[in-house]
Amino acid sequence: MARILILYYSGYGHTEIMAGAVADGVNAVEGCEAVVKRVPELVPDEVAAGSGMKVDQAAPFASPDELADYDGIIFGTPTRFGNMAAQMRNFLDQTGGLWARGALIGKPASVFVSTASQHGGQETTITSFHTTLLHHGMIVIGLPYSFAGNTIMSEISGGTPYGASTIAGGDGSRMPSENELAGARFQGEHVARITLKLTA
Ligand SMILES: Cc1cc2nc3c(=O)[nH]c(=O)nc-3n(C[C@H](O)[C@H](O)[C@H](O)COP(=O)(O)O)c2cc1C
Repeated sequence: MARILILYYSGYGHTEIMAGAVADGVNAVEGCEAVVKRVPELVPDEVAAGSGMKVDQAAPFASPDELADYDGIIFGTPTRFGNMAAQMRNFLDQTGGLWARGALIGKPASVFVSTASQHGGQETTITSFHTTLLHHGMIVIGLPYSFAGNTIMSEISGGTPYGASTIAGGDGSRMPSENELAGARFQGEHVARITLKLTA
């Protein structure tokens, strides 16, 4: 059984929902099992509760060292000024020991994202995230155009060749659309199939 970690941070629940869809895609592949975890919050509890953040997320927190235990890892983050969220950065900055041991070399990795606006940094957030994954020697996987929803023109939608994405809206009221969730499932399935081949 190949075990794939879906590791995310989500302030308001959009990335959390996308993580669930990615997990569904992984679990749809026979021989693959998704484990969904999140990185620890850095915002104080009272600030999070007072600013409408989604504090009741079911996924347990991951520890940096456990990344080595998985056959592949799919990361999810909201954008912060076109880059990954500080919570995810902080977590990854604790993986120096894994890097020193080369513990993630050769493992497949992929990234999905949430932004408030259509052009608010979906692609830069994913591709700048890839830099860290490449320093770890991971094999970067995107969301290929065989996912037809990447070229949808009939509605506003996330979906990039670099990874699945959703648009939350300026006030966070827009939830992931069917097309965006389909992209997330496709990405999960795609990574799972490649992971199976690499672990065979
Ligand atoms: C400090 C900060 C910076 C942000 N920067 C951007 C940005 O550059 N572009 C954008 O579209 N959204 C930006 N956002 C909005 C978040 O990306 C949005 O709240 C998030 O995608 C929602 O996903 P979540 O519910 O998983 O947290 C920013 C939010 C915060 C708090």
